[in-house]
Amino acid sequence: MNVRTAVIPAAGYGTRFLPVSKAVPKEMLPLVDRPVIQYAVEQAVEAGIERVVLVTSAGKGATEEYFAIAPALEAALERRGHAKLDEVRRVSRMVELVPVTQAEPLGLGHAVLCARDAVGGEPFVVYLPDEIVLAEPSVTRQLLDASERLGGSVAGVIEVPRADVARYGVIAGEQVEERAWRLSGLVEKPPVEDAPSNLAVTGPYVLSPAIFDCLAAVEAGAVGEIQLTDGLDALAKREPVFAYRFEGKRFDAGTPLGLIETAVELALERPELASELGAWIKDLAKRIDG
Ligand code: UTP
Repeated sequence: MNVRTAVIPAAGYGTRFLPVSKAVPKEMLPLVDRPVIQYAVEQAVEAGIERVVLVTSAGKGATEEYFAIAPALEAALERRGHAKLDEVRRVSRMVELVPVTQAEPLGLGHAVLCARDAVGGEPFVVYLPDEIVLAEPSVTRQLLDASERLGGSVAGVIEVPRADVARYGVIAGEQVEERAWRLSGLVEKPPVEDAPSNLAVTGPYVLSPAIFDCLAAVEAGAVGEIQLTDGLDALAKREPVFAYRFEGKRFDAGTPLGLIETAVELALERPELASELGAWIKDLAKRIDG
């Protein structure tokens, strides 16, 4: 599949980050000096994706502003010969951002459906911005390669302890490769005893455009939300859909604790911060133990 477009749903309320998410979209919270969402965008760009459809809600202009050119700032940095100029320029020009509004947060599946016209009839990637995976090759590359090789849509999955399956969308299917399963279906938050596997869908996703018809036909669930897992379950009944257990170190920056952990891990990957931060962490560990 030649994939040119990514969709990043970012129209949720971010209630776990209230009150800060009243004014700062959670995908714009910082991981060191970059917003959470940049990690998904960087991966998309690296995989050759040219456009990112950003599903947002009213009042989330900060994300669009971040990826837009800031002429006055660039001119000021240029006058001062500032070292950050290249980075500021790169961020503003890295991708074509196409904003789409989800008027009400009616679920992740509904958010993806809002991107339908912007995506058109082509396969596309969906990223959940909070899910950050450090991997080489990138998780996007792993999923695109799996999609090409296996011939179908692909959802990124992780193995979770059986006791935790009730917190996730879980796959049912037949293993076709060491890391891949052909999906027969998906169950959202199953009780442990009914769970068809311990493989939980976390994304990213490489999706065929047929997902849009499937999502349009999904009935809203108990809380009035359209779930992406229900759309995928319907898609798996129409065309090949695979789950791929990707390689890499995964972080969930979607909770306050997860954001702190992710920020520290990412800072430790930065040569200019690693040694001072490492020394501080060792000292902190002693203080906590003592
Ligand atoms: P989350 O459940 O992680 O985001 O949805 P949330 O609802 O904003 O967070 P909490 O639970 O209230 O703290 C996964 C992704 O899907 C987007 C979110 O913005 C997030 O990036 N999403 C979710 C939408 O775009 N629209 C929705 O209706 C729901």
